[in-house]
Amino acid sequence: MKFKPIDQLSPKVARAEHTLLGAEIAEHDRRYYQDDAPTISDADYDALRRRYEALEAAFPELHAPDSLTKKVGAAPSQKFAKAKHAVPMLSLGNVFSDEEAHEFVARVRRFLGLKDDAPLAFTAEPKIDGLSCSLRYEQGELVLAATRGDGFEGEDVTANVRTIADVPHRLKGDAPAVLEARGEVYMNRADFAALNERQAEAGKMIYANPRNSAAGSLRQIDASVTAQRPLRFFAYAWGEASDMPAKTQKGMLDFLHHAGFVTNRLTKLCHSADEMIAHYRAIEQQRSSLGYDIDGVVYKVDDLSYQQRLGFVSRAPRWAVAHKFPAERATTVLRAIDIQVGRTGALTPVARLDPVTVGGVVVQNATLHNADEIERKDIRVGDTVVIQRAGDVIPQVVEVVLEKRPTDELPKYKFPTRCPRCDSAVVQETDDDGAADVVRRCSGGLICPAQAVERLKHFCSRLAMDIEGLGDRQIELFHEKGLIKTPADIFTLQKRSEAGEFDLTQWEGFGETSVRNLFASIEQRRRIALNRFVYALGIRRIGETNARRLARHFGTFEALRAVASKATEGSEAREEINNIDGVGDVVAEAVADFFLEEHNEKALDALLREVAPQPMEAVANDSPVAGKTVVFTGSLERLTRDEAKAQADRFGAKVSGSVSKKTDLVVAGPGAGSKLTKAQELGIEVISEDEWFRRTGQE
Ligand code: IVH
Repeated sequence: MKFKPIDQLSPKVARAEHTLLGAEIAEHDRRYYQDDAPTISDADYDALRRRYEALEAAFPELHAPDSLTKKVGAAPSQKFAKAKHAVPMLSLGNVFSDEEAHEFVARVRRFLGLKDDAPLAFTAEPKIDGLSCSLRYEQGELVLAATRGDGFEGEDVTANVRTIADVPHRLKGDAPAVLEARGEVYMNRADFAALNERQAEAGKMIYANPRNSAAGSLRQIDASVTAQRPLRFFAYAWGEASDMPAKTQKGMLDFLHHAGFVTNRLTKLCHSADEMIAHYRAIEQQRSSLGYDIDGVVYKVDDLSYQQRLGFVSRAPRWAVAHKFPAERATTVLRAIDIQVGRTGALTPVARLDPVTVGGVVVQNATLHNADEIERKDIRVGDTVVIQRAGDVIPQVVEVVLEKRPTDELPKYKFPTRCPRCDSAVVQETDDDGAADVVRRCSGGLICPAQAVERLKHFCSRLAMDIEGLGDRQIELFHEKGLIKTPADIFTLQKRSEAGEFDLTQWEGFGETSVRNLFASIEQRRRIALNRFVYALGIRRIGETNARRLARHFGTFEALRAVASKATEGSEAREEINNIDGVGDVVAEAVADFFLEEHNEKALDALLREVAPQPMEAVANDSPVAGKTVVFTGSLERLTRDEAKAQADRFGAKVSGSVSKKTDLVVAGPGAGSKLTKAQELGIEVISEDEWFRRTGQE
């Protein structure tokens, strides 16, 4: 890299170079930290930075508060470096009753095509109430410890985890070259109580429960503080493994135990739903004497080849489930009912309560679900009510304690007929059969400020654009002050601030550093994964999974928009969206509604001037079926229908329900009828189920 000698620069030229260089460095930082895809060598990057610093040394007036020289290393506003998980860290689905536990087992059998009497084993073990962590060992040495984060990327807490006595720094015995051990960091109840006592004496922060205490202790910037905290670790799972030391869940746990980890002694191998439930009851009996908090029992299919076949749906494995303990209950007085307006206008009644402790947590607000529920339970302001809380689920009002209703008769609750925020009429949608939807909505749409704020919150949230520093509170404030009205406004904040429109540093709660960090985290999100972007738009019925489906199917935002914006009812475009596997009429209609709405068109145009959604990488793109549209038809003999779909998904193929010009491949089993005929007419390649296995490299 060649630069002009500094002493030959005029102040004006120096300023211009400084600005350009700053932008260039910021871009490289983004590629490096954000995308994990640097485009220059470390040496070249260092040269750019040195030049930048030299300019500032020679021209001190360039040394503005937001100079890059004030930032070091990782993304500025983050406490810890980010760590991408080689294999995503998933969560678990829940069941709350014996019946649902039986259904889980039946579902697994159905997916695998196993008869009722075919043997199928599960492990059953306590669900530890802590925080999960992934520990990466290379050649037996601990090299990285990461928190779960959003499941795909967590925080690098290696130095802190090294201080936990239960975590081996080196694995014992023969270990795979690469092994990620996963499990729960937690704190014993007695240790938690003693820690809180010490904290109180020292005038330091008190933790609400052992889980918070474990999380707070792990996320200390100074690892020597973590070292003094009594953290523990149970291993119960794994991520990447260069080879597998066992063929079963139980076998893997035994391996982890021999490698030096603590595994839970209450893990049991069960051979039926009844046996699993019996073990659940046994663990529940011991719950209070275990010494640490648990909130249920986890059931996992024992055979790892079955686990592999079952795979995942959305963020949870099909082969495991958490059987939660019953919710805890308490009674308190209902003081008021507030109405919250959601991002799609849904009105949710929220109970404001006299504070009460339920399962170790102080509850002041609880959901009342909807108008019908209030009516059915005849809940009135002033009533004594039963509150229930199950794990991390939002507390809810279960029923009224009628004996405690004050004698001077309380008036019946009337659900508002106008939106409490924008005064638009409240409407109740009806479905095709004319039945009224339980949800009442504000009909104000884009004029309702509450809906606008909720949409912005959703846009910035963790699974969407994930803009650090723009939390709910900040968004409410910025919206109220008129600084941010639409998502695009977020990306022009810095420019407008520099143009002197406002000075955030003068606002309460915003210092120079926090403003600088906020601008930096906004900048980082100008490039964003397509699925996150689609999810962030807050289209009705488009959650994370559907957003991923749309992103995968279309590949780029332009392609999605081109089709969706002409997807009127009955059109070929609507049909295409409809045919995406997992997407049906209702979702296709919601997508079309969004893109056909003129206001949204404008907001999107403005947003796309600021943000570049990145094309989706084809999944498993070395698979010969990746990116292809596949139709399964006839009776399959080796795969159940669900499994066929799941496999296609895994190999990056799209499954469609009907044969059209866009179909690339038809997998036909015996008895295939009209779809096969149509494929032959259109000259589409037809293969057998066996050939499908060969093509996808499974045999
Ligand atoms: S297995 C792919 N086993 O529960 C499945 N999770 O609600 C990975 N957890 O994020 C999880 N005890 O933090 C598993 N014995 C156990 C567990 C357990 C606690 C946590 C874990 C997970 C969360 C899901």
